[in-house]
Amino acid sequence: MSQMISVALPKGRLGDQVYDMLEKAGYECPEIREGSRKLIFENTEKGVRYFQVKPSDVVKYVERGAADVGICGKDILMEYGSDVYELLDLDIGKCRMCVAGKKGYREDPERTLRVASKFTNIAAAYFASKGREIDMIKLHGSVELAPIAGLSDVIVDIVETGNTLRENDMEVLEVIAPISARFIANKASYQFMEAEINAMRDALAGGRDGEEAGK
Ligand code: PRP
Repeated sequence: MSQMISVALPKGRLGDQVYDMLEKAGYECPEIREGSRKLIFENTEKGVRYFQVKPSDVVKYVERGAADVGICGKDILMEYGSDVYELLDLDIGKCRMCVAGKKGYREDPERTLRVASKFTNIAAAYFASKGREIDMIKLHGSVELAPIAGLSDVIVDIVETGNTLRENDMEVLEVIAPISARFIANKASYQFMEAEINAMRDALAGGRDGEEAGK
């Protein structure tokens, strides 16, 4: 009999989209749609167990083997440099990691650049690669406020529609990397459940936007 796969599913819109894809692929767990406060859902017949996890915590469950596989944004993988296999780009949750500032912002090379971000590792690596010294300010949300309030010169953050920047008179200054959701696996799990994990990966690959069955 094949092994039960545990899946760390991010709570929220991305997780809902991924669960839809998995449900269509035969990994359904109807209870998940009931909107309860439960955090674990299991369908023993289908050999799948879902953990509902905060998006930024998915990688911790997978890296340490509490979940065999999971779905998380490339931003999180870049920020934490996680030791997991990245098996598939799901082509959803697409956005860009950017440097942004107030409209018309011009950098003063004579001064240390003040950078506010939730993604301090990504920001540090990016500016180090450019040989630019920075003063890092770690924030936890509403990062766009920092340049407006005079806390920082620029921010490093995710831009999806660009609405948050536009509505705050800000603009993208540089694009650091494109971001999208990835299907990841724990390295040890992948050794002993390769067939099951590959089957789930293939099912997700078949369910991506614009990829009809048989195409
Ligand atoms: C994210 C990100 C930007 C915004 C970008 O924030 O940090 O603020 O979305 O999206 P947009 O380009 O479509 O406007 P989130 O909504 O996660 O909230 P936060 O500010 O609390 O981090």
